[in-house]
Amino acid sequence: MSHADDHEGTRRDFLYYATGGAAAVTAGAAVWPLVNQMNPSADVKALSSIRVDISGIEPGTQLTVKWLGKPVFIRHRTEEEIGLAREQDAADLPDKFARNDNVDATLSADDANRTMDENGEWLVMMGVCTHLGCVPLGDGAGDYQGWYCPCHGSHYDASGRIRKGPAPENLPVPVAEFVDETTIKLG
Ligand code: FES
Repeated sequence: MSHADDHEGTRRDFLYYATGGAAAVTAGAAVWPLVNQMNPSADVKALSSIRVDISGIEPGTQLTVKWLGKPVFIRHRTEEEIGLAREQDAADLPDKFARNDNVDATLSADDANRTMDENGEWLVMMGVCTHLGCVPLGDGAGDYQGWYCPCHGSHYDASGRIRKGPAPENLPVPVAEFVDETTIKLG
């Protein structure tokens, strides 16, 4: 059994995942090992994509799927959440960049540069704290009504941008696209 396999057993304790359909949720925060040598090579990554059925994700809820061994948050935001995230654009953001693999790396961290759609209903991010790799809590958690990582106290806002705490960067948006109205492809 490889080192990576060892981790699978413990992950199952807190993460239920779906590849392409079934609903899934995470409960609580847990340490998510971020070990670079365990990451797949670039060519493996290029081949690794999954399709996720988002038709059952109600506004104000989030689906967490496992992709390339890591959690990905797919949040269907309400009008209020979108409004809040866009108001928060005006704040003095610690990380000024969108951190979105689907857009130019120099684009600003404005909410509109991080969401899947123009209206901002869909926000897809790696569910891995940019400090040391814990899985942040969602559903409006933390001081900025977004996500909160209790491991060392990092607060992310309604757009997944770091606002307070030791995490250096915004939660990254992975390569993702709509295949049709109810399906998102990751990778
Ligand atoms: S791992 Fe999230 S704050 Fe340290």
